[in-house]
Amino acid sequence: MRHLVDSMDLSIGEVEELFEIAERIMEKEDDYRNICKDKILGTLFYEPSTRTRFSFEAAMLKLGGQVIGFSEPGSSSVTKGESIADTIRTVGSYVDLIAMRHPKEGAPKHASHYSTVPIINAGDGGHQHPTQTLTDLLTIKETKGRISNLTIGLCGDLKFGRTVHSLIKAISRYENIRFVLISPKELKIPEYIRKEILIKKDIPFSEVETLEEVIDTLDILYMTRVQRERFFNEADYIRLKDSYILDREKLQSAKDDLAILHPLPRVNEISYEVDDDPRACYFKQVKFGMYIRMALIAKLLEVM
Ligand code: NCD
Repeated sequence: MRHLVDSMDLSIGEVEELFEIAERIMEKEDDYRNICKDKILGTLFYEPSTRTRFSFEAAMLKLGGQVIGFSEPGSSSVTKGESIADTIRTVGSYVDLIAMRHPKEGAPKHASHYSTVPIINAGDGGHQHPTQTLTDLLTIKETKGRISNLTIGLCGDLKFGRTVHSLIKAISRYENIRFVLISPKELKIPEYIRKEILIKKDIPFSEVETLEEVIDTLDILYMTRVQRERFFNEADYIRLKDSYILDREKLQSAKDDLAILHPLPRVNEISYEVDDDPRACYFKQVKFGMYIRMALIAKLLEVM
């Protein structure tokens, strides 16, 4: 049985295969309307979510399956003090796979040790978010035609942003990738990503504090929200929250074929005037997120 807990749990070949399945589904959605008939997805969301939960649910429903779960742990026996292990054993006896989001780093991994069905990490604290990474990779592939030979700028909260950590890990396996890490000093990428991924694998990267000084060099600009819920202190959040605001003026010096991605939700970091720019890919990215999750569900349930 396979789980998806870390963005490195899938090989490059397996990611390729998921892209192919997603592309086939996008082309002829109707052909896949019943492939998950009689299957049930459990969604255990211990943290807020819009896109991840809805896209998982929509993905399962479009494949003919059904969904049960909670989006608010307060309505489950979690409030009575039930452990993750017991919740997983219980839910696993009703459903065929589980998507789980949790504020604690490592919770989905812990769950996978007790689960009799595949566990998908739908985001664990400030750690990892592998299905967002699949979404991001598919978006890059569909818009640039490749996931190699790219200068990728990651901007905003690189410390707490789990989407950034998963993406750096996964994308560092492709050819000729260069990272430009744009953040305030306080929100730089964690040491383990710098040491164990970038330095160990000898991947070129630079760290800067302003977007203006590097925007013209980028093929991809991945904007992120400052992760308010991970701060110990509200004053620090307020000081850092508007560190970067991408607007039309800043985009003037960017490449014509830049692709702007954002896992969303956005707060202030991309001004609404950018939405009409042909380089803005973040709403397309939302759609790709559902198709890649359809592919992932089909693969983990071994129906494709
Ligand atoms: C991200 C997350 O939850 O980490 N959102 C998402 O899943 N699309 C990014 C964020 O919350 O900033």
